[in-house]
Amino acid sequence: MTSKAAAHSPVDKFTFGLWTVGWQARDPFGDATRPPLDPVEIVQRLAELGAYGVTFHDDDLIPFGSDDAARQQHIARFRKALAATGMKVPMATTNLFTHPVFKDGAFTSNDRAVRRFALRKVMRNLDLAVELGAETYVCWGGREGTEYDCSKDVRVALDRLREAFNVLGTYCKDRGYRIRFAIEPKPNEPRGDILLPTIGHALAFIDTLEHKELVGLNPEVGHEQMAGLNFVHGIAQALWHKKLFHIDLNGQRGIKYDQDLVFGHGDLVSAFFLVDLLESAGYDGPRHFDYKPSRTEDFEGVWASAAANMRMYRLLRDRAAKFQKDPEVVAAKRAARLPDLAQTTLAPGETCADLLRDRSAFETFDANAHGSRGCGFVRLHQLALEHLLGAR
Ligand code: GCO
Ligand code: MN
Ligand code: MN
Repeated sequence: MTSKAAAHSPVDKFTFGLWTVGWQARDPFGDATRPPLDPVEIVQRLAELGAYGVTFHDDDLIPFGSDDAARQQHIARFRKALAATGMKVPMATTNLFTHPVFKDGAFTSNDRAVRRFALRKVMRNLDLAVELGAETYVCWGGREGTEYDCSKDVRVALDRLREAFNVLGTYCKDRGYRIRFAIEPKPNEPRGDILLPTIGHALAFIDTLEHKELVGLNPEVGHEQMAGLNFVHGIAQALWHKKLFHIDLNGQRGIKYDQDLVFGHGDLVSAFFLVDLLESAGYDGPRHFDYKPSRTEDFEGVWASAAANMRMYRLLRDRAAKFQKDPEVVAAKRAARLPDLAQTTLAPGETCADLLRDRSAFETFDANAHGSRGCGFVRLHQLALEHLLGAR
């Protein structure tokens, strides 16, 4: 390690995909507004900004179709940059969406040869991910879906999706790989409708897998919000199932196309409660930013936006910690009966028969008195917002 690497000792596990800052800002209506970035430069710049590591799709590092010699060269240069900076690779993933071969999906393409090719592409990059020390392998099925309900039997597609995860799980177990899969749900875009559109759909699917202990989630802020769902609730449930293996942080403003804004630049209040949840739950995985520097920005703007993600997280973490410690907040929570929810509804050892015998639970219960009690939630929320605004 060089002295630069020694100096690079980030306390936060902030990571970025090579494809994030490296995005050339091509969209369906316009050409690229920025030239490509060398992965080596990305590693160096992000290290200087204080990131902990980078993540990559196979094709971000090794252009699709590279021969073995070129592939080895790309990997060698990347390894050298990692060693020189001390940057880690905690996660890797596969590009199963750019090449036209994946236009009808990868693991669920109607074309069996495409499905077999997709599995091989994943296996090859899994080998590299493990070599680079990755502990998580993200699977975002952006092309696994349809535009037309008649174009695929969804029940059969789910059979093939399950088959793919069973095969990949067996592959990792046979090789003794210590890597876990994290499914990333998304409701639509690029397909009209994508399979496993939400955290809930993915959790139910994982439960049917052969190696379910190896498969969890990589939820992305914007993806749940595109569907109008509450991301904080989704993450809480993923944590509750012990399936939050990884997280994609970014910003989204309401139900529209996938914006991939800087973290906190979308629904800021939700971002505050998300950080509050992650920190208080003791989530210790990477804080991975999967955002796109807006198409309007030049490289100065790209690096400023990368720094902005980390700063937003730190600011929100600081505000959330103050919120939790404020005695007025503690009192407001008590007034709002939050601690009471942690009490089991039946007493320890109490049976249904005991509950039926408890006249105070029903016969003499004063529903009107309880119904007229204020909950005090608005006061608590106002305190949260004042902390978020730095007013307290
Ligand atoms: C999106 C997705 C992608 C995936 C990434 C991993 O914005 O639709 O987040 O960015 O996370 O490609 O495969
Ligand atoms: Mn996205
Ligand atoms: Mn993502």
